[in-house]
Amino acid sequence: MRVLVLHGVNLDMFGKRDPAAYGTITLPEIDTRLVELGRDLDVDVETFQTNEEGAMCERIHAAHGDGTAAVVINAGAWTHYSYAIRDALAILSVPIVEVHMSNVHAREAFREISVFSDIATGRIAGFGLDSYLLGLRAAVSSAASRG
Ligand code: DQA
Repeated sequence: MRVLVLHGVNLDMFGKRDPAAYGTITLPEIDTRLVELGRDLDVDVETFQTNEEGAMCERIHAAHGDGTAAVVINAGAWTHYSYAIRDALAILSVPIVEVHMSNVHAREAFREISVFSDIATGRIAGFGLDSYLLGLRAAVSSAASRG
């Protein structure tokens, strides 16, 4: 099984940006932990980050029919307004797990809105690195239960 983990805009700055919200872990460290957990769960984890909305849409398109069994996505600020990424995700028929490092419900009002949540299988927010690790576990078990 292969799981695609997508990181959106500004997430390459984890470790440097707003440590009160995101801690000090870097994106390469997050990716390493995801790949290690993938090994434990016997799944291949591929990670992708971009700051370009079109590039994110194209990576999502490529996941259609390429054997990707599930998607974990932290779209960063795109979560709150990108109908383009929403429409790209809606093309996929595999489980989609939305994750956020911070508790978006305990922050500014604009972060309350996700334009993806209703097309996602589920959402995990507020647990830092564990949001991703729990998201990967959820994606794998959702994909397994779909057969
Ligand atoms: C985030 C939350 C978003 O509101 C924010 O724009 C991010 C990171 C998170 O992981 O908590 O860039 O998705």
